[in-house]
Amino acid sequence: MRRAVCPGSFDPVTNGHIDIVQRASALFDEVVVAVGVNKSKNRLFSAEERIEMLREACAGFDNVRVDGFSGLLTDFCTENGIQAIVKGLRAVSDFDYELQMAQMNASLTDVETVFVPTSPEYSFLASSLVKEVAMFGGDVSALVPAFVHRALTERLAERATAEG
Ligand code: PNS
Repeated sequence: MRRAVCPGSFDPVTNGHIDIVQRASALFDEVVVAVGVNKSKNRLFSAEERIEMLREACAGFDNVRVDGFSGLLTDFCTENGIQAIVKGLRAVSDFDYELQMAQMNASLTDVETVFVPTSPEYSFLASSLVKEVAMFGGDVSALVPAFVHRALTERLAERATAEG
């Protein structure tokens, strides 16, 4: 059984993430989408919300399951019998840090990192930018699934009300 992980913060999941998960699911017998739940102050959505959104987004992929993880990604790989970490690469600027992480992870356990080039239509896409553009009223409806867009709009409205 060839098993891979697609790790990330997914705050929130974008169409670019889903594209990478779908392509990974064609390459591996099983794909685990692992949502990092390590504490961070800057999340818009809770770990549970991010996991739930990923479950809905990946519901159509038979060999994909979604899980949360805390601590080291390599420990999650060892515990789940995962041989490969799949990462999307948008641009050369992603490569330096991703290479460093791939080499660090390989030094920690017997895991390979597989880089998948992001589809050109998503090469500019990042959760952080989606949040920023949506916060200032920009239209991000083509960049995330419709149910994520609704959740994003609601959460940003709640935040705006709370902050007066
Ligand atoms: O979507 P992101 O924020 O780019 O995802 C980053 C993530 C969660 C994949 C990365 O931060 C990670 O693997 N975190 C787990 C902690 C860990 O293993 N750190 C050492 C990396 S070499």
